[in-house]
Amino acid sequence: MEPTDKGRGGELDVLLHTEQTFPPPKGFAERAIANDPSIYERANADPEAWWSSWAEKLEWAEPFSQVLDWSDPPRAKWFVGGKLNASVNCLDRHVAAGAGDRVAFHWEAENADDLGAEGRRGVTYAELLDMTQRFANVLRSVGVGKGDVVGIYLPMLPEAVAAMLGCARIGAIHNVVFGGFSAESVRERMEFSDAKLLVTADATLRRGEPIPMKPAVDGILTALPKVEHCVVVDRCGTKPAMTEGRDLFWHEALAEAEPVCEPEQMDSEDPLYILYTSGSTGKPKGILHTTGGYLTGVTATHRLVFDLKDDDVYWCGADIGWVTGHSYIVYGPLANGATSVIYEGAPNYPAEDRWWEIIERYGVSIFYTAPTAIRACMKWGDEHPEKHDLSSLRLLGSVGEPINPRAWLWYREVIGGGRCPIVDTWWQTETGAIMISPLPGLTTTKPGSATIPFPGIEAKILDSEGEEIEEGAGILVLTRPWPSMARDLYKESDRFIETYWDRYGRDTYLVGDAARRDEDGYFWIVGRIDDVINVSGHRLSTMEVESTLVSNPKVAEAAVIGIPDEMTGQAIVAFCIPQGSGEGLEGELREYVAEKIGKLARPKRIVICDDLPKTRSGKIMRRLLRDIAAGEHLGDVTTLRDPDVVQDVVRRFADQGD
Ligand code: WT7
Repeated sequence: MEPTDKGRGGELDVLLHTEQTFPPPKGFAERAIANDPSIYERANADPEAWWSSWAEKLEWAEPFSQVLDWSDPPRAKWFVGGKLNASVNCLDRHVAAGAGDRVAFHWEAENADDLGAEGRRGVTYAELLDMTQRFANVLRSVGVGKGDVVGIYLPMLPEAVAAMLGCARIGAIHNVVFGGFSAESVRERMEFSDAKLLVTADATLRRGEPIPMKPAVDGILTALPKVEHCVVVDRCGTKPAMTEGRDLFWHEALAEAEPVCEPEQMDSEDPLYILYTSGSTGKPKGILHTTGGYLTGVTATHRLVFDLKDDDVYWCGADIGWVTGHSYIVYGPLANGATSVIYEGAPNYPAEDRWWEIIERYGVSIFYTAPTAIRACMKWGDEHPEKHDLSSLRLLGSVGEPINPRAWLWYREVIGGGRCPIVDTWWQTETGAIMISPLPGLTTTKPGSATIPFPGIEAKILDSEGEEIEEGAGILVLTRPWPSMARDLYKESDRFIETYWDRYGRDTYLVGDAARRDEDGYFWIVGRIDDVINVSGHRLSTMEVESTLVSNPKVAEAAVIGIPDEMTGQAIVAFCIPQGSGEGLEGELREYVAEKIGKLARPKRIVICDDLPKTRSGKIMRRLLRDIAAGEHLGDVTTLRDPDVVQDVVRRFADQGD
């Protein structure tokens, strides 16, 4: 499934067929922070010393007495006895070192040209610290304290960063929900986590139009008695209704708040945040990250994988609502004192060169995005990047899904001008930080491979019996603890063990991906082994979409599968048995899912059928549905309760196709 691009197609084809590898460019390697290959041997010979050397770069209020306690796997304790505060490490210590005037974020509004000076804000470290402390004081003033959960449902604004760090300052646990999720998804995540306060905006700008957020949140707050307050950032001036005593405007509350807020010194193992992600059941999992280990992991990986130097302008195009935003917009870059870009809007608004215009404007030197976005840009055509001077770029990154070699080569040639190394970074919400990735000054890259584990990380491929496969495909596992590993599933400790640590033993982390290792020991991620679909780099569970569909009274039963898609990696296809007539139901159900979960979950196709292929015990055979969608030979269907159903579904799938 390779998208056809305009422009350099022919040239890329030549490269594709040579299976070329790319050693680090000489000049890059010489100047790289990690340029000594023995770093791998040293880290792997003594991982605790390695991680400890990174932890020591943080500011601790009390030093740790033990690097790792792994006496009761999988319950890891990192930097035992240490005390620190994440916001101090991200802000105060840089300001104290004289970097208060350094820009932390160049914020670019979607409608920057219409907003004048307000549309492009350079937020310095001192300003971010001020906002963070004031917000932390607002939280304290309404009774939020250490261990309380605060929901954050915001557009891509500097306020979102300050909200996260404000929580960290007082030891409250943030629970960010991607702004593209529906209010219903927010409700569920607030309820599961017993959130006490929710931060949102009046509206979010999408392609120039304000989409209401606060009015949608009003609808769920009545069902969330534990959420005592709602703080509203006025992004679009839409004047939402405010409930007296419950709702506060961000700007008003911060203006009145005290400017200084003493940080809560947290135990290294105290929770920093939870972030919900899809699992193989309908209920999202609240991944729990703690303070000292997480900060250590993101600091080390952000510094070395992105070769971050003082004069870099770094831009991670992810949303703050995903783990990529948490680790590589907020905590990693700020802990490292980076200057970053935050762009609020769509990559093709008002035109398809918006990203390249931003790179040129700010002189971005490191750019990190997802394959799905790269493929979209590739389809829009080379003329858009070619209009801009992208010579400031020196390093490119990819994350979220396997990148197909053709998109990799396009990224390298057209965006990177053939001179920038590409780091294809494999990791997960659960791992907190990058696990498998090139180090750009050391690793020879192969298009499509995430290459080798980061120093100190040990990855293996196992067969179903747990035997290691040195070369070949199997199940990917991580076999050593690492500082930024998830510590638990919030309020679901048993599920944490069952999901990740039961298959091969308590010290072997089951990733949930299949992968292949080649003759050079390079890892190639194949895809998920559970009922998780990866749409545009976003994780969705088939069960989540199914249970949403059957919550509609017009649907009797539903089965959801992922199919390969040339733009989004995978796309959702839902087979539905209607309750009553299925006439004209397809469009309605697509919108229903978009409304209930969020636009990212909108199925590409809904196939209405009279029945679904089921085993004699009544289980829907999704494997068969996947074969039907792929047009594969169906093989033996005699174990089905009613083999005739298959032919009907095949016909429906073909008839209702585009
Ligand atoms: C799943 C994790 C990591 C932040 C974004 C997604 C897939 C992630 C890669 C990559 C191939 C990748 C895996 C993984 N994935 N990065 N470079 N190459 N696949 O975080 O939502 O927790 O999803 O995304 O399947 O398990 P997430």
